[in-house]
Amino acid sequence: MTFDRTLKIAPSILAADFANFGAECAAVENQGADWVHVDVMDGHFVPNISFGPTTCAAIRPHIKGIMDVHLMIAPVDPYIDAFASAGADIITAHVEAGQHIHRTLQAIRAAGVKAGVALNPGTPAAAVEHLLDIADLVCVMTVNPGFGGQKFIDMTDKIRTLRAMIGDRPVHIEIDGGVDVNTASSVTQAGADVLVAGSAVFRGGSVSNPEPYGENIRAIRAAASGVYV
Ligand code: DX5
Ligand code: ZN
Repeated sequence: MTFDRTLKIAPSILAADFANFGAECAAVENQGADWVHVDVMDGHFVPNISFGPTTCAAIRPHIKGIMDVHLMIAPVDPYIDAFASAGADIITAHVEAGQHIHRTLQAIRAAGVKAGVALNPGTPAAAVEHLLDIADLVCVMTVNPGFGGQKFIDMTDKIRTLRAMIGDRPVHIEIDGGVDVNTASSVTQAGADVLVAGSAVFRGGSVSNPEPYGENIRAIRAAASGVYV
């Protein structure tokens, strides 16, 4: 996985048909997705439960590119090996999920996986300042995590601060929550290069009618690039 700062669209399968995950992953990739974003929720760190490492392992063979696993769980450390074995390319843990995020990022990298660190809307950019040399990605949450389809919360100041803090380091800035054609350009202008989108990608389509996924992905990409759609 080579580093580049070109725009990447990462559909969140939280908005996909849960009875058809494998086909949904293949469909969004065929329709132009760059990464596939996989939201793991434990009913403890966040108020909702999604699925765990067994599901990640089951969908892995259906994803040709990057499997981007977002852990909304606490604790994280006991499960790192399970998600690494499931074939995650990136594992992102929340700063708020425990007392030892630095150790968690070290453990993710030690498992041979790229390490991401996520920030809830109420957490300042400074929380990751001393983590940037051991992280591959910072995920800025633009909703309070737990559910898809929520209203976007403006975090452009935080994104700008992070972009300056990161400097030349090979660290992605990913935006997660409420990203659509209306919100994509403000976050990319502020410095984001990975846009997660669930409802805005999957709406209108299905595995038997995947073309709307492609239209939605192209529309978000165009909006993020400042092209009027
Ligand atoms: C929120 C999840 C997001 C979410 C995105 O807890 O981490 O990935 O599913 O969904 P939308 O794009 O619908 O806000
Ligand atoms: Zn997510």
